[in-house]
Amino acid sequence: MKELKILLILIVLVLIGYWGIEPYAHSVMHGEVKQPDHTYKDVPKNIPTTGDPVKGKELFTTNCASCHGLKNDGVNPGMDIQTSITSFKVVPPDLSNIGAILDEHFLAYFIKNPQDATKNPKFAMPPMAQLSDEDIGHVVAYLKSVTKKDLTGKEITVEACGRCHSIKYQKVLSDTPKEPLKEYLGKVPPDLSVIGKAKNVEYLETFINNPQNTLPGTSMPRLGLTKESTEKVVTYLDQIADPHRDQRNTLGIWVIGYLLFMAGITFAWKKKIWKNIH
Ligand code: HEC
Ligand code: HEC
Repeated sequence: MKELKILLILIVLVLIGYWGIEPYAHSVMHGEVKQPDHTYKDVPKNIPTTGDPVKGKELFTTNCASCHGLKNDGVNPGMDIQTSITSFKVVPPDLSNIGAILDEHFLAYFIKNPQDATKNPKFAMPPMAQLSDEDIGHVVAYLKSVTKKDLTGKEITVEACGRCHSIKYQKVLSDTPKEPLKEYLGKVPPDLSVIGKAKNVEYLETFINNPQNTLPGTSMPRLGLTKESTEKVVTYLDQIADPHRDQRNTLGIWVIGYLLFMAGITFAWKKKIWKNIH
């Protein structure tokens, strides 16, 4: 009986440590973590996000297609990769699914004022001052009309991050080479293959939502992803960083079960032997 009591006390102490002290220490050491704001409260919501997709396509062709392609609708960028690297130090992304990846109000405001929307004063895309708010509504309507539905985490990550980041273990190489990126952003964006091991899910969600909250002054732009896109990207990054984790966790439960079972048998056996001796 004495052993059982000691065991019980030990279990209680371990549980207090696990649920009480560890999270407390964690919160003290990491300080206050800002919550992601997926509604982009600071972004004006008065620019229309609906309109006529046909007009939107015309506006896209004259105002955007000189730099951006849109494969879903057969639009090739008017500029080859080398020219865009020379001009911007970053390859403008293909916008096939951007209408589903970004928050629509963010997107509308971004077209009007990319530097303010992204919180990056050096953001390479010029403001589209020639477009009226109504025109922007048509363009956003067009972008939403051509996008594929139910994008995977990988597709979103490649379209939203792939102009700057590589994911080498997944054989994804950034559209832009390292040297121009370094010139543009001050440093080479890290490879994302195992970032899910270095950073936890909450950190990644908060960082992607607004890099300035975590790394003030960083040159990574705020991208305006919806909550759903952010979650898919983070789940993807977490999963590729450690593809065998689920398997390992399941195995762990079996091992613990096995050990408990063996401990029970050993205990019963010991009792039986001692009973005969007394
Ligand atoms: C003169 C070239 C140029 C034109 C014209 C242009 N863009 Fe861009 N755009 C860029 C570059 C360069 C980037 C990438 C900059 C970076 O990542 O730092 C970009 C990025 C973007 C992004 C990604 C934003 C994000 O949050 O990830 C969107 C969306 C976009 N442009 C939409 C448009 C639309 C819509 C138009 C037309 C109304 C347009 N662009 C016109 C150069 C251009
Ligand atoms: C315009 C280029 C650009 C784009 C697009 C971009 N990033 Fe970054 N990213 C950077 C740069 C530059 C850094 C380095 C930031 C620093 O250390 O200041 C960075 C850093 C990071 C980090 C490391 C953060 C840390 O604490 O060290 C993560 C994670 C990350 N990016 C994820 C993403 C994801 C996910 C996307 C797409 C949804 C994305 N990035 C899109 C440029 C970019």
